[in-house]
Amino acid sequence: MNSNEVRQKFLKFFSAKGGPASSGRGHKILPSSSLIPENDPSVLFTTAGMQQFKPYYTAPENAVRDFGGKNVVTVQKCVRTSDIDEVGDDTHHTFLEMLGNFSFGGYGKEEAIKYSHEFITKELGLKISYVTFYQGEGMVPRDEESAKIWKKLGINDTRPDGSDVFWGPTGDSGPCGPTTEIYCRNASGNDVEIWNIVFTEYFCDGSREKLNRGQAKLSKLTTLGIDTGMGFERLVSIIQNKKSNYETDLFNGEQTREERIVIDHTRTALFLISDGVTPSNTGRGYVLRRLIRRAVRFSKDPLNSKIEKIKKIYAGIYKLDDKGEIKKEEKKFRETLEKGMKEFEKGTDPFILFTTYGFPVELTEELAKERGTMIDREDFDKKMAEHQKLSQTSSAGMFKGGLANHEPQTIKLHTAHHLLLAALQNVVDKNIKQRGSNINAERLRMDFLCDHKLTDEEKKKVEEWMNDKIKQNLAVVRKEMPLAEAEKIGAQMEFGAKYPEIVSVYFIGSSPDAEGDAVSIEFCGGPHVANTGELRTFKIQKEEAVAQGIRRIKAILL
Ligand code: ALA
Repeated sequence: MNSNEVRQKFLKFFSAKGGPASSGRGHKILPSSSLIPENDPSVLFTTAGMQQFKPYYTAPENAVRDFGGKNVVTVQKCVRTSDIDEVGDDTHHTFLEMLGNFSFGGYGKEEAIKYSHEFITKELGLKISYVTFYQGEGMVPRDEESAKIWKKLGINDTRPDGSDVFWGPTGDSGPCGPTTEIYCRNASGNDVEIWNIVFTEYFCDGSREKLNRGQAKLSKLTTLGIDTGMGFERLVSIIQNKKSNYETDLFNGEQTREERIVIDHTRTALFLISDGVTPSNTGRGYVLRRLIRRAVRFSKDPLNSKIEKIKKIYAGIYKLDDKGEIKKEEKKFRETLEKGMKEFEKGTDPFILFTTYGFPVELTEELAKERGTMIDREDFDKKMAEHQKLSQTSSAGMFKGGLANHEPQTIKLHTAHHLLLAALQNVVDKNIKQRGSNINAERLRMDFLCDHKLTDEEKKKVEEWMNDKIKQNLAVVRKEMPLAEAEKIGAQMEFGAKYPEIVSVYFIGSSPDAEGDAVSIEFCGGPHVANTGELRTFKIQKEEAVAQGIRRIKAILL
């Protein structure tokens, strides 16, 4: 069976009205949604089939209105960057397709399990090695019911499991619930998870991270929903009896880790650009940029031939067009790479290569290996540690002038100060620059370049923007990075300050690792609160002129 036959078989199975063993499946076939989630700004990319249906789990009655029925089925494009370091092995990707059937009050556990059992064993003729079910915790009971249903179907190996089989929510809140997973044996003789069937019974008022920390609450949904996801690439590899996903007809038989990284990242970039993402220094665009750069790093040949191969594989299934963006990005990065390579060939120290040329130490290590030598990693780590210590003290010192003390209220006002600069840039003028600051436990004071007195309307809008971000409970995250990288992502810096090669940067809203759109990025030594929610309410007390073209705001937290 070729990969497209698998897609079609899945859609047909769930959309069929009757069928020999089950009747009334009748799911409506819907197209994959964009990789940019439309109804959830807290999520960077579509990572699961249920993403486009998030609102229907809390308002299932709308499904009939919008889809003409309670059950839908899709093949969904997904991007997940959490496993990026695993890419290169047989089964991990940053782009994947997910086969999923969904129900908003149409059917329950028994049917969901029966359908999946029938599809796997009868339609595909695969053997189920074992299944898992949720062992229960807190208000969520142990899911004996699923285990019983599986046993009735002749699957006796049912294994209780913990938080791995509780799925969701995606983003900063949403539907979630216990799951049962199906494991099948692959050509390497390993049992791998192929299908995750979520019983969407709960709504979580915070993110998954918060739920894990006990800082978010679950409430029971009025209607049980069904959300399933089957990793397409992995399923196809089992059906086609291949040891690696790269040997299926979805790839070209890439063998080495490098080849696999190149094809994986190029494929993801191509899909992202086709859905409207462009390379940039923040959020989605930054992820895209990093993927392309990584592909370039691992590919000696231009990426163009890979792009053409990928387009051919998906011809007639997805419309793919990179609009020349990959080539543009590739050209720029190859130049940087080239300069670094020259230094590398001269035998330049890995530490200098990293701090001055932005050459990652892993790359230097790999290059050294290719030439049969090794770098002194211990020496590099030691130099980095010294360097970071130095930069911490220097960037902390840099801020001393602004921070009177480290009392809790002063620290809160310090975070508010960062947010205020972003607020002014967002509400008043994106070119506003900070020119001075002074913070104590009573108030913050910021001087900034601006050509006019703020109107009452502007002041009101700034306050609203601030209080909105405060309410959103945004995380405040510190990260150390090379000065060049911080400049590239547009971190706000102090005018006239001299920064070390490794700088401390504070992100409000996200960090590049969390891959979100930060609302504020500033060079800073801290300290800050962990979460903007701690600031409560922001209020401007005074706005006045201090010099020609320089305004001053005094503000407090209530
Ligand atoms: N939403 C579930 C997943 O992504 C099915 O695994």
